[in-house]
Amino acid sequence: MSRKKLIAANWKLNPSSKEEAVDLISSIKIGLNKIDLSSEINLTFCLPFIYLELIKNSLKDTQFKIGAQNCYFEEKGAFTGEISALMLKNSGIDYVILGHNERRSLFNESNEIINKKLSVVLKNNLLPILCVGETLKEKEAGITEEIILSQLNESLAYINCTGENIIIAYEPVWAIGTGKTCSAEDANTICKLIRNKLADLYNSSVAEKTLILYGGSVKSSTIKEQMEKTDIDGALVGGASLIADEFVQLVINSQNKK
Ligand code: 13P
Repeated sequence: MSRKKLIAANWKLNPSSKEEAVDLISSIKIGLNKIDLSSEINLTFCLPFIYLELIKNSLKDTQFKIGAQNCYFEEKGAFTGEISALMLKNSGIDYVILGHNERRSLFNESNEIINKKLSVVLKNNLLPILCVGETLKEKEAGITEEIILSQLNESLAYINCTGENIIIAYEPVWAIGTGKTCSAEDANTICKLIRNKLADLYNSSVAEKTLILYGGSVKSSTIKEQMEKTDIDGALVGGASLIADEFVQLVINSQNKK
């Protein structure tokens, strides 16, 4: 079945000012305007909270969507410093990244916390991009599959996945920001494992419909081969999404049909 591809930019903690954020998105917009972006690809920009509304406004004349990089699992109350899924929804945000490795490793986010976040994000009709991935140590210990399956089991517990309401991103931790891309073949193997797991947890129709992205040092030079694989439906792009020309080229190169 053909799934509409998604390229999601994750700007992480960048850039440092609104002016730079507007400059970056304007350059990307100009670059993308020059190409005939196929109707088979969606683009979303996952930004620091403080830029969401500003960049949403800059993109109002485009098809591109906006996402956050995190949210809290409570909707309101005494939770200093947090942002709720309801606030995101009420601000017109479409996507939210959940369980990114940097949140897991630097901010102690467990699968249980991610599960609670997923539940509230779905309740508010936002589209979560749920990240899973193994560390180098886990890969070297030969337990990649076990890790991915337990991340899925625990973060998807009691969650109703329809195939259209959750996006999964496979991001091997050792490939994030390191320049070491997982081979397209190996990434596809894990994306296929994820799809099979969704079929087990739900059913084959949910598994077939679900978008599964690859993330980890994705560049314009690697995307084509990745996108040609049967079970990779797009990319979650960090560093390369901060360089306008490189990101535009990456989007161009991602458009080859399977
Ligand atoms: P890089 O593309 O910089 O490796 O980051 C990947 C990532 O973490 C996207 O969420």
